[in-house]
Amino acid sequence: MESSLLKEFDELVEARGSTRSEAFRDLARAAVVTSRVRRGVDAVATLTLVYDHHVKDLSEKLTELQHDLGERIRSTLHIHLDHDHCLEVIVMNGRSDQLQAIADRILALKGVKHGGIELYSGLSPETSERKRSLQPSETRPHAHPHGEDERPRKRKQLS
Ligand code: NI
Repeated sequence: MESSLLKEFDELVEARGSTRSEAFRDLARAAVVTSRVRRGVDAVATLTLVYDHHVKDLSEKLTELQHDLGERIRSTLHIHLDHDHCLEVIVMNGRSDQLQAIADRILALKGVKHGGIELYSGLSPETSERKRSLQPSETRPHAHPHGEDERPRKRKQLS
């Protein structure tokens, strides 16, 4: 590794109060997780999005995509940030490549302004076993709490 790169790396390491070997271990772990996730493994994910709930059909599309995920959704958190914006955090488990694909579709929807997905894999078999035996802790309400439920239900193909 060239010395200028190593010098900057050491400065980062110092700023976060860790050691060079800890930093290398974290980088290695992240690279391994990224590679596993691409292959499609058992994973847990959090998908965070900020969206404008006034955008036509967006709430309906989000609800439909979440219904497609079914029991893979473990919990959701919804906050009405301000007059226009909602923040949603969706906790899911399932095959990493499928979770990533559906997250990409959700994040590409018109009206979704910010967001990202974090995937974690390599959980112990015990955790995966326990996870399968658990029911989702929270049932997602069908209606988005902005009164959209009063509008006629539309079945639209997602673009
Ligand atoms: Ni909202």
